[in-house]
Amino acid sequence: MCMRYFIETYGCQMNVHDSERMAGLLEAVGYEAARDEHDADLIVVNTCSVRERAEEKLYTRLGELRLLGHSPERKAGRPIIAVTGCVAQQEGEAIVRRSNVVDLVLGTQRTKLLPAAVEQVRLGGSAPLVDIRPWDDVSFPLGLAVRHDPVKAYVTIIEGCNDFCAFCVVPYTRGRERMRTKREILAEVRAAADSGHSEIHLLGQIVNHYQAPDDARCDFAGLLEAVHEIAGVRRIRFASPHPRHVSPAMIAAMRDLPKVCRHIHLPVQSGSTRVLAAMRRRHSREEYLDLVDRLREALPGLAVSTDMIVGFPGETAGDFDETLSLVERVRYHSMFSFKYSPRPNTLAQQRLAADEVAEDEKTRRIVALQSLQRAIQTVLHEASVGRDEEVLVDSISRRREWELSGRSTANTSVNFPGTPDLVGAFVRVRITRGGPNSLAGELSEVLDRPRTEAYG
Ligand code: SF4
Ligand code: F3S
Repeated sequence: MCMRYFIETYGCQMNVHDSERMAGLLEAVGYEAARDEHDADLIVVNTCSVRERAEEKLYTRLGELRLLGHSPERKAGRPIIAVTGCVAQQEGEAIVRRSNVVDLVLGTQRTKLLPAAVEQVRLGGSAPLVDIRPWDDVSFPLGLAVRHDPVKAYVTIIEGCNDFCAFCVVPYTRGRERMRTKREILAEVRAAADSGHSEIHLLGQIVNHYQAPDDARCDFAGLLEAVHEIAGVRRIRFASPHPRHVSPAMIAAMRDLPKVCRHIHLPVQSGSTRVLAAMRRRHSREEYLDLVDRLREALPGLAVSTDMIVGFPGETAGDFDETLSLVERVRYHSMFSFKYSPRPNTLAQQRLAADEVAEDEKTRRIVALQSLQRAIQTVLHEASVGRDEEVLVDSISRRREWELSGRSTANTSVNFPGTPDLVGAFVRVRITRGGPNSLAGELSEVLDRPRTEAYG
């Protein structure tokens, strides 16, 4: 009888791609995708630990999954439940001590072993299996990842991070920085492009720290050039670069390679040099602003987005004002902003707890920041009205079936009336309306249609 799997994913693009990889590994040994968790013989909860209470959310979810064993829809016994991702890595054994529904805990560096570990659990009786050991090998079999997005392909180039910013859990959950070979990356990009995925997203914790282990002359700029040469690639995006590793060669590559989108996600985290130093970000406000100026000089019209934390321990009202003034100066196209919350093991959690900013003050600051950002986005989007935007169409709107959705080069969502055969196409859209979160317009030209074999 065929076994079915169901994967639930929380967190960043890296986790989304790990789920695509796990799906591929399971399908390679004969599993099929389940309709939902009620239909599954194996449920994988791929977790994120970047915010507080991630563990609590996991245990609430595990409590719900416990009931599945008694679900009238299930014909066989209860499903195997596996926890993967960053909470799995961080909590390890503690998960099986706290929840007797979990059969398997697999760390972020062990995901390649998922099918073998599930088999071990199936054959091994009742004892849960926990494996969170480090593994330096970042290779991954070609062509296995199950990509659900019709146009976008995530391709991991680096795993882990050695930077240990004071607020960040990632170096603890993803391990030390390991580079994937250029040969393997390019082979994966070629395979993705051949299957119709024309927008390549290069992923890594500090993507622009890339140095090919198999080609001493290939840094991140060199990798962009190599990806750019691959037939079938129309667009290249990457996430996330670190401001201190943006080299002149990288800026030149972005300027000279037309497939590289005119957008950069450049995390800043705070507008105050004092807070940036406490965060161990290794760049000042002035260095960051200078970098944005240099990027915009080389790439006029470049859209910049960022990540911001408010209420980091010791952040004063004056520091926060510097964050607001930096946002006004840069005029970000979009922003992920969060209230600081202490994460396990991090320097901030261990050393700075006494300087916590009061919760109601954090709330006041995040509300002020988000309302400023919303106003800036609205103005930027309204300024697009009357212009033509090149859009890669990625979906049919969930709300209106006659409407298509895609992204501009600046990574802004663009909606317009169109027919489903245009999903995957590169089109020109005349913008007629700009809201705070998206643009709307009319199709003015189809530039390039999808190749039919990829879209059936
Ligand atoms: Fe975390 Fe800093 Fe590494 Fe980014 S650079 S993953 S914020 S430690
Ligand atoms: Fe979350 Fe881990 Fe990504 S903590 S944001 S899933 S690297």
